[in-house]
Amino acid sequence: MVARYYTLHPLIQPKNTVDWVIKWRKKEELEQLVVFCDSNTRYLAQPLADAVDALCLEVPAGEENKNLQQAERLWQALRTAEASRKTGWINVGGGMVCDLGGFVASNYMRGIPLVHIPTTLLAQIDAALCGKTAVNLGPWKNQIGTYYLPEAVLLDPAMLKKLPAEEVLNGKAEMFKHGLIEDVRLIDYLEKLPPNTMPGLGWVRRAAEVKMYWAGVDPHEKSHRKILNTGHTVAHALEAWYLAQGQTLPHGQAVWAGLMAEGWLAVQAGLVTEEGAMVWMLDIPRFVTPRNWPKTADWLPWMAADKKNKAGKIGFSLPTYPGNCLTDQYLSPKEVGILLRKFDLNTWLS
Ligand code: GLY
Repeated sequence: MVARYYTLHPLIQPKNTVDWVIKWRKKEELEQLVVFCDSNTRYLAQPLADAVDALCLEVPAGEENKNLQQAERLWQALRTAEASRKTGWINVGGGMVCDLGGFVASNYMRGIPLVHIPTTLLAQIDAALCGKTAVNLGPWKNQIGTYYLPEAVLLDPAMLKKLPAEEVLNGKAEMFKHGLIEDVRLIDYLEKLPPNTMPGLGWVRRAAEVKMYWAGVDPHEKSHRKILNTGHTVAHALEAWYLAQGQTLPHGQAVWAGLMAEGWLAVQAGLVTEEGAMVWMLDIPRFVTPRNWPKTADWLPWMAADKKNKAGKIGFSLPTYPGNCLTDQYLSPKEVGILLRKFDLNTWLS
């Protein structure tokens, strides 16, 4: 019998996060603990660090700080603290903290015990799950990283209580993507909920399970896991374009735009009818925060560094309709330019 879910690491909804951490320390015989956060999540991380007698390390918030310089600074801090392989590393933060903190933990002494406590909706259903770590290389998104499984991911509902509306919109982008990949009920649910309202915990859990399943069948992204990159070839290109201008585009907003552009690409490539794709594409604008999006010709070249690219072609996992996202779609940059020549994010997202 094939198991429905392949569990890469336990997903835990603790009654009390402090108690859980104290028990983990004892069970793993850890000599010291580090709680890692950014300037946005210090208010959540410091009380935890105080309660479990941990060193609290912080980086400035912002995707532009997810880099090797910050990683080196953190390794130096571990050295100064005489951290050993018996030092437990706990990430308290959103996707940036989980990616960078995971990267640091996975490389210090070739890996120290890691736990994620994701504090955003996006991190709870995606970034903190299933062992990808990353830093950016200049503006190029997530170019350096490792696969490194946390010992547990704590989905603490209390973390989502004070989330700003903007973060709810960002998290819903990955939730919607999980709906497109596997479970149309997630899309139906999001359609009914006011855009700024936090989804119910059962749905958060369901979205997390979709990720756990697809990453679980292919942890190192040789095949099936690529489906989780639906919308992300364009999303990462947009984020890179913004980073190169010295600005940050939140990942969730990039994913909304990426799903829209890649949906249109799928229509133009004849993979889905326009009517079929519009059923979900027209849902998207109400989740998008207004901005002046760059012209298509500006962000297209930034797809050159996508990790799915092959033989000079751009690799996509294209959304068509719920339950039918298509991995391993390769198009030359010229073909993409032709298929998207009439596409403009400002028109489609407003
Ligand atoms: N965020 C996509 C993945 O983890 O595979």
